[in-house]
Amino acid sequence: MSFYQNKVVWITGASSGIGEALAIELVRQGAKIIVSSRREEELKRVAQQTGDVAKVRTLVLDLEKPESFEMAVNNAIASFGQVDIMIHNGGISQRSKVIDTLPAVQRKVMEVDYFSYIELTRLLLPHFQQRQTGHFVVISSVMGKIGTPMRSAYAAAKHALHGFFDCLRAEIWPFNAKVTIITPGYIRTNVSRNAMTATGAALNEEGKNIGSGYAPDKTAKQILRAVEKGKYEKYVGKPVSKERMAIWLMRFFPTVAINIFKKAVPE
Ligand SMILES: NC(=O)c1ccc[n+]([C@@H]2O[C@H](COP(=O)([O-])OP(=O)(O)OC[C@H]3O[C@@H](n4cnc5c(N)ncnc54)[C@H](OP(=O)(O)O)[C@@H]3O)[C@@H](O)[C@H]2O)c1
Repeated sequence: MSFYQNKVVWITGASSGIGEALAIELVRQGAKIIVSSRREEELKRVAQQTGDVAKVRTLVLDLEKPESFEMAVNNAIASFGQVDIMIHNGGISQRSKVIDTLPAVQRKVMEVDYFSYIELTRLLLPHFQQRQTGHFVVISSVMGKIGTPMRSAYAAAKHALHGFFDCLRAEIWPFNAKVTIITPGYIRTNVSRNAMTATGAALNEEGKNIGSGYAPDKTAKQILRAVEKGKYEKYVGKPVSKERMAIWLMRFFPTVAINIFKKAVPE
């Protein structure tokens, strides 16, 4: 029997890209899912894509609206009576130099990519504590481990996730709750099209690294394997890639890594 059979999994950012692929793969592996994002029509499309709409509930959620989070958490739990796994995946990226980037852009990235994750987590924790089980899956990025040009807001938010969720993991193990942080490399999604430029407008271009990135369906399988194994942190993406090498270099030879990042050509 699949590890995910009858598990209830709540996925944010499920209307596209990695979240959509996770939704389809989870239903294929027997899970019941709650799919969240801002665009209801896209969530309904994803529900159809799974091939079993009875196993899917849609829950519209704007990660920039913390005042709606308590009701969202209650509705998520009520959807199937419990939540076993929460996958924090919704997010927005950024492509701009620090000197040009408006403060509102820095704040929006932190709001969507960091503050929403930690507040939804805080609100769901009592449910996990009461049930003495639960698993938070956090979609970070290679940019949660390194810093390159044009990504300051995004890298800051992703690095912050590691600090927060490493601390949380150390707190919640007594009630059998887990944290898995995923650091994807380049994955072929709309992430660069949707990324904000210095003023907050969408970039609307597919970066070449993203265009030739790893397939979302394979990425979803890698993520679900890491969660099943209870990994603390896991890179997903092409098995051999410059971004995977960058994490390794930053860890063991940070001076070499930083000198390479200085010369990185921004997309
Ligand atoms: N693709 C990559 O190369 C890559 C690499 C590393 C990490 N990641 C991470 O993977 C995650 C998923 O991104 P993706 O690559 O699948 O990109 P994507 O195709 O652009 O998907 C982003 C998702 O986030 C949702 N979202 C964005 N802003 C939101 C908001 N304010 N409220 C609620 N939902 C919001 C979008 O849904 P709506 O527009 O419907 O709200 C969409 O479902 C992100 O956290 C990203 O940082 C991606």
